[in-house]
Amino acid sequence: MVSEKIRNMMDSSSFIRKMFETGAKLKQEFGPENVYDFSLGNPAMDPPEVFTKVLLEKAADHHMHRYMPNAGYPETREKVAAYITSEQKTAVSANDIVMTSGAGGALNTVLKTIINPGDKIIASIPCFMEYKFYCDNHGGELDLVEGLDDFNLNIKKIEAAITKNTAGIIINSPNNPSGRIYPVETIKSLASMLIKKSKETGRNIYLISDEPYRKIVYDEIEVPSVMDAYKNSIVCTSYSKDLSIPGERIGWLAVNPAAEDYDNLINGIILCNRILGYVNAPALMQRTIAELQGVSVNIEQYKKKRDMLAEKLAEFGFKFRIPEGTFYFFVEAPGGDDMKIVDLLKDEKILVVPGRGFSLPGYFRIAYCVDDSVIEGSMGGFKRTAEKLGLKQD
Ligand SMILES: Cc1ncc(COP(=O)(O)O)c(C=O)c1O
Repeated sequence: MVSEKIRNMMDSSSFIRKMFETGAKLKQEFGPENVYDFSLGNPAMDPPEVFTKVLLEKAADHHMHRYMPNAGYPETREKVAAYITSEQKTAVSANDIVMTSGAGGALNTVLKTIINPGDKIIASIPCFMEYKFYCDNHGGELDLVEGLDDFNLNIKKIEAAITKNTAGIIINSPNNPSGRIYPVETIKSLASMLIKKSKETGRNIYLISDEPYRKIVYDEIEVPSVMDAYKNSIVCTSYSKDLSIPGERIGWLAVNPAAEDYDNLINGIILCNRILGYVNAPALMQRTIAELQGVSVNIEQYKKKRDMLAEKLAEFGFKFRIPEGTFYFFVEAPGGDDMKIVDLLKDEKILVVPGRGFSLPGYFRIAYCVDDSVIEGSMGGFKRTAEKLGLKQD
């Protein structure tokens, strides 16, 4: 029999399932080309051609399919370390890197390593709600803290939420769903507050930075380094979004070499990576991405989609903050009822996610990692919905 806990979890996440089912039904009834599905962060763009070229070369190598050290191939970790040393402005070596099964795998590995039963992990609203399940997987609890109106972190509220049970905080910048990049001053004040609170509570509060959208940024905005700002930091990421390969399950985590109790931390993480069940990250992908450091899909194409949507949504009267990164718009739900807007858009065969799916009702999320034809085809439906809502058109 399915456990009570899992049954409750299935119920509480059922609206996403419902939307998925609705989408499938609509596509069957009206044809997939007549349904405008902005619901999932599952990129439609092909990976760069060089990805396929390297993948085929690596697949032709013989005898390279066996278990390897649980942290991953040393050669891959060397190359990742060299790349992130410049990205994070911190000297990182292969020993600090663990190859993981995507960012989700990286986060679970870290959480399993640091959580004691009943511990809390802080996250700022709005956020990726899988964090709640990831914390629960390891006997912890997600402690959600309100963000500022512009989706930046509210350092005062985070400080007030910290207790001796706080094992860490997860931040995600560029952020899903808001597209916000936290400025360097925010990261610095978060770091000094965490140093103060770690002293007060008597435990190192870890800063876990979930960065799968780091390369999907616009207008040359720089994503600040957490490693540069705070020594008890761990970066988790993947190639899911920037190489358009989420199904291949490849990512890594990097432990700040200056972290306190470093040896126990990295060894604990390597153990947890092994015992979570996937043993090591996929071998062929590790060998492939080793050659693709710094490569990404064409970000200009996402910028074009962002700008096209921004212009039209604003013209129709929708209110939003322009995303600085990611491929998401987080739009105000006119009147504040996110479910009502989701339903009205569904009538136009447009699928979006209500803000409550990110713990912030009053908004809805548009994932624009779709073909241009989906954006173009949906414009009439967005316009009619805005008219029904009586929005002031430009
Ligand atoms: C903020 C955030 N973190 C983590 C993940 C999981 O990424 P991966 O597919 O690499 O496990 C996602 C996926 O959508 C995400 O949006």
